[in-house]
Amino acid sequence: MRSIIDKLKNENNLSDNEYLKLITEDIDIQYLYNSADEVRQKYYGKKVFLRGLIEISNYCKNDCLYCGIRKSNKYAQRYRLSKEDIYACCDNGYELGFRTFVLQGGEDAYYTDDVMCEIIKEIKHRYPQCAITLSLGERSYDSYKKMFDAGADRYLLRHETSEEEHYAKLHPENMSLAKRKECLFNLKEIGYQTGSGFMVGSPYQKPENLVSDIRFLQKLKPDMIGIGPFIRHKDTPFANFESGTCEMTLRMLSVLRLTFPKVLLPATTALGTIHPQGRELGLKAGANVVMPNLSPVKSRKLYDLYDNKICTGEEAAECRGCLERRVKSVGYEIVSERGDAIK
Ligand code: 5AD
Ligand code: FES
Repeated sequence: MRSIIDKLKNENNLSDNEYLKLITEDIDIQYLYNSADEVRQKYYGKKVFLRGLIEISNYCKNDCLYCGIRKSNKYAQRYRLSKEDIYACCDNGYELGFRTFVLQGGEDAYYTDDVMCEIIKEIKHRYPQCAITLSLGERSYDSYKKMFDAGADRYLLRHETSEEEHYAKLHPENMSLAKRKECLFNLKEIGYQTGSGFMVGSPYQKPENLVSDIRFLQKLKPDMIGIGPFIRHKDTPFANFESGTCEMTLRMLSVLRLTFPKVLLPATTALGTIHPQGRELGLKAGANVVMPNLSPVKSRKLYDLYDNKICTGEEAAECRGCLERRVKSVGYEIVSERGDAIK
């Protein structure tokens, strides 16, 4: 098994069968993590990049079956942040050392292109040296282009799963994988640093799906890859499904690091939710980004994608300090930089 890991480390690619073995078999898992960590350190040293996550709205016109803020969840208490709320988060974040702001939300029609462009320009005016990442779901080419021209630098849009049959089990009929992929290629064409990704252990996922996810990412060549375990949410159709595991997520993080040596790979909040040291373990398995919550305390609990989500604490600056300690505890260091992708 070590020979497959070495091969992946040297060639950044494997056959489908070899990937399947790495994903499913009883391997020397520590050797996999260590190999991924070696590659991560070769390019990024001990640096961990910070992204301040601002959850701008939990209104969503979509109805993804896994997601707690899906439109059919009538128990979700909806909120949206005003422009001023968002600027206040950025002001606070800048003071705390953040040089990237991630504006994430459900697909909420309130945030028209005009509204978004105004927000993007104002943040860029206040903090020209900071990067703005958007994570607002599917929009038209034109919309992505306008927001890019207004100053947005990066866009996160997970493909969630790259096989039609599986995609259809996770999403309502009016959503399509083809559309999602088209959006991702549009974002790249426009010039965004683009991030995609998927959930690990989502309902009906087979190991073969994970191999397809890798194949899709090899075509897309994203700058960032966000993965985390699926975690069930009590008010969704998937309330009774098993959540994904920490172990499988770590395994996939390492496989991704070895396949995409320079990619920006966050140790996600979902990983920190299923295991108390999930994010620290993620960093040791190849991840190099953390995304502390910068949202206003009053709305944190409402951005409820899955059960028991962490970082919904009462103290606004809490996540920043908490992650500083966590990152240090495993021998890495948070840096106050934009943390752009290296080409
Ligand atoms: N468990 C884990 N991740 C989830 N997401 C949405 N719902 C869940 C869930 N139940 C992820 C999706 C989405 C990102 C913002 O959150 O992958 O792209
Ligand atoms: Fe958010 Fe620890 S990082 S509470």
